[in-house]
Amino acid sequence: MQEKRVSDSETIMTEIIMPNDTNPLHNLMGGNLLRWMDIAGGICAGKHCAAHVATASVDHVSFQKPIPLGEVITIRAMVTRAFTTSVEVYVEVSTAQFTGANPRQSNDAYFTFVGIDKETHRPLKVPPVLPVNQEEQRRYDGALRRRELRLILSGRMKPADAGELKSLFK
Ligand SMILES: CC(C)(COP(=O)(O)OP(=O)(O)OC[C@H]1O[C@@H](n2cnc3c(N)ncnc32)[C@H](O)[C@@H]1OP(=O)(O)O)[C@@H](O)C(=O)NCCC(=O)NCCS
Repeated sequence: MQEKRVSDSETIMTEIIMPNDTNPLHNLMGGNLLRWMDIAGGICAGKHCAAHVATASVDHVSFQKPIPLGEVITIRAMVTRAFTTSVEVYVEVSTAQFTGANPRQSNDAYFTFVGIDKETHRPLKVPPVLPVNQEEQRRYDGALRRRELRLILSGRMKPADAGELKSLFK
């Protein structure tokens, strides 16, 4: 299958925080942010796979600083590495005031999406990712151990089979 570059499917989504998106403290509700991250990541994975995708997992997400009503957030999603039927997508969020003042990073997370065949609704083979710069190569290299960790945590892999993770401790 033909390799595809990260830039071929990079997805950028912008949202303004409206009253309906907030909690009673007038800050963005965490669940709404996760939803947007899932949408941006899913669009990115769909472009990479040229297929429908389903979210298989979301790795650790932390909410360190509140994002207030009226701010504008930018969500950037990039594929890091594809396996057989799944692709890992890095999703990062930055925020700024409506005027563009006080820009800052806010959250990030790794999502895993599975390419889904439209007819059978079963997983399908997805194209490999071709990293072309240092940052893409670093995320590509780290994807193997993140995959092992999430498969162990979801009960899909025995710790003894996690060769990449084990090599970290040698
Ligand atoms: C994700 C899903 C398609 C996997 O189906 P499955 O029958 O388990 O298929 P497989 O065992 O062949 O796994 C398919 C791929 O998913 C990956 N996968 C499955 N569960 C995973 C998890 N928890 N974390 C990371 N990857 C996972 C497998 O590693 C495999 O990837 P690979 O082919 O690249 O190695 C299926 O579990 C599903 O449909 N889940 C619901 C998806 C959904 O509705 N998402 C929205 C959330 S509400």
